[in-house]
Formats: sequence, structure tokens, C-alpha cells
Amino acid sequence: MVDISKLLSRRTKRMKASEIRELLKYASVPGVISFGGGLPNPETFPVDGLVGITEKVLRERGKSALQYGTTEGADVLREAIAKRMVEKRGMKVDKNNIAIMSGSQQALDLLAKIFIEPGRTAIVEAPTYLAALSAFRPYEGEMLGVKMDEEGMDTELLEKTMKKLREDGKIAPFIYTIPTFQNPSGVTMSLERRKHLLEIAESFDVFVVEDDPYGELRYAGEDIPTLKALDRDGRVIYFGTISKIMAPGLRTGWVIADKEVVWKFVIAKQATDLCTNTLAQHIIAEAFDSGLVERHIPEIKKLYSHKRDLMLDMLEDKMPEGVTWTKPEGGMFLWVWVPERVNTMKMFPRAIENGIAYVIGEAFYPDRSVTNAMRLNFTYSSDEEIKEGTDRLAKTIKEFL
Ligand SMILES: Cc1ncc(COP(=O)(O)O)c(C=O)c1O
Repeated sequence: MVDISKLLSRRTKRMKASEIRELLKYASVPGVISFGGGLPNPETFPVDGLVGITEKVLRERGKSALQYGTTEGADVLREAIAKRMVEKRGMKVDKNNIAIMSGSQQALDLLAKIFIEPGRTAIVEAPTYLAALSAFRPYEGEMLGVKMDEEGMDTELLEKTMKKLREDGKIAPFIYTIPTFQNPSGVTMSLERRKHLLEIAESFDVFVVEDDPYGELRYAGEDIPTLKALDRDGRVIYFGTISKIMAPGLRTGWVIADKEVVWKFVIAKQATDLCTNTLAQHIIAEAFDSGLVERHIPEIKKLYSHKRDLMLDMLEDKMPEGVTWTKPEGGMFLWVWVPERVNTMKMFPRAIENGIAYVIGEAFYPDRSVTNAMRLNFTYSSDEEIKEGTDRLAKTIKEFL
């Protein structure tokens, strides 16, 4: 047997299996209700619509839809996305600002490949998207979390952090944020904070990375302009995805940025996978152009908004004193704070015994500094499971208290 441990690169040694995957192994024990996963509800997948579109694409342009494509992506899709981003996300962009990715997860990996190296720092929200931390880690930089509150990233603290890094001679090439219906917290960054964030990025001359998988899934409140819509000088690198408005199995996302930045992503992607699945790109372009996406999003919002309301009502009814949670206006997740003396990692085995799973909060912090929180997904479980699951969770917390 080859002794693989001696042969692995430093980079590979820094890779870790996703904690969620590890923990969620327990959640697949029969009888356990899981609020832990991050999957969209498959009931929302527009299967019938996609059958017709796939057949049309294969019949009308099968030869090109099955061929390799350019690394930046199929023109029809880049044009369709540019149109939608102008109309729905308030941006001033055209197809030349867009590169198609194999999911926005690939964009996260390429982002780190392009900008992170030993000695550099990736600024993230605390908490942040766990798989962004996994994507950044192998590139051997540091990751620094800036605390959030109910208005999103604390930009006063961000400014102090940036000053300190500069004094220490450290380069932080970008600030990574999920400003709208954040994964994991469900929090949306206020307009004031968005403007402040852009001012800070301008004054330190760094990029802002806006990851926006949930932006079109709003169930309450008023739209807030995207950072990309507020961007005055090509400072915002925006990631979008089809995963939450159609289906993640299509594995298609997009980067929107200044042309020079897009080109860096294209070069980095070329060596990774040459191009994103061409058939999927043509199917999605047709789904946009035929109005399927437009007709479909309200269906998703109807289901998810009902589930959000149900989970919020159940938490209100059942949770003991001292437990608080966010009330997201969209997206798929909410965040629960338990009293400080409760460590949600230590409580996890008891939760599984009681038949309920969640994701421990500390996994979402680069320094794992917060131990009394958890992420709950409200979109995947059935109504019955939401009722029963919140009951089991409340019982577990009470026992543990
Ligand atoms: C914040 C965030 N970014 C990126 C992704 C990855 O999405 P995709 O399916 O486009 O790779 C997710 C998926 O859950 C996410 O929540």
C-alpha cells in the first residue's frame, strides 16, 4: 500500500470533509427529522416544464448543445442572465460581464484560487456559508470573520478590522458577504450597511464579493438593492445560481463582474473543467426565454413562505425562555440562539436520540468561537415534520437546560 500521507500536498492536507455532511450522517437514521440539510424542496423542481424544454433543445440545437462550449459559457445563457439581472437585481451589465460556472460553488473555489495565497486574509461574515470556508481553506490564507447582527455584517467592526490588517501589512483582497437572506443566519444586510460596506471597500481598494443564491426568494418586506446594483466602480463580484430558483442538479451558476475580473475567472476555470455542462446551459437559457423561470419562482415562494411562517409559529409556541431566533424575510434558513451555557455540539447526540437534527452553529465561524447557536432549514421538511421536529427540538433544549 502506498503511504498516501507522505505524498499529499500541503493544500490537500488542509481540506476537510464538510462538517454538515459528517453530522448529517446521523440525521439519516430512520425516524430522525432533519432541519440540518440545505437542500431545496424537490417538490419545487419544475420537472414537467423541463421535460418539454429538454426535448425542444435537443431537437432544435442538439448538435451544439452536446458539444464543448466556450469557457465563459453559452451566449444564449449569458444574454438571458444579463437580461434578468438588469430587470430583477437592478444591475447595469451585459453578457460580457458574465461567466457561467458549474454552480456558484465553483465560483467560490476559483475566487480563492485567484486571490488567496499564504499570508493573505479572506474577510467573511461570522457566521458565514460553511462551504465557502471549505473552498477558501486549501489556498493557505487566513480567514477572518466579522460579526453580524440583525442588520447584517457589522461594518464599523469591518472598518476596524481592515485598518488593523493594513497596520499589520496584511493583504485582504476581498470581503465575502451573502447580504440577502444569508446562509446560515437568514439575515439581510440593511441598505445603510450595504452603502457603508462599499465605502469601506473603496477606501481600502479591495473587492466585495456578493453571493446571492436566495435573493429572488423574498416572502415578506421590501426589496433592497443588491451590492452589485450599488456598485459604482466595478468593485463588486457577484455570484448567482440556478440552484434555488430551479434545481441544483443542473449545476449552473454565474459570476458577474468587470470584464477584467471575469477574464481571470475564465482562465482559472479553463484548467478546471473547460466549460460548464453545455446541455444544462441551453436548457436553462430556454427556461429563462420561454418564461418558465418567471412562472416558476412564485410557486417556490408560495411553498417556502408557508413553511417559514409555520416554523416561526411553532418556535414561538414551543421554545423555552432564553431561546431566540432570526425571522428571515426570505431564503431557506433561520438561526437559533440558545442560552450561552448550552453548547449545541454537546447537545447534538441528545438531539439525535430525541429524533431531531440541526447544524451546529460553530461550524459556520472560521474561529469556531460561538458554541450556543444552530442553523435550521425550514424549506425541506413536510408540515408534519416541522411541527413534530420543533417539538423535539424544544424538548431537547429544555432537557439540556
Ligand atoms: C451562500 C451559498 N453560496 C453558494 C452555494 C452553492 O450553490 P451552487 O449550487 O450554485 O453551487 C450555496 C448553496 O447552498 C449557498 O448557500
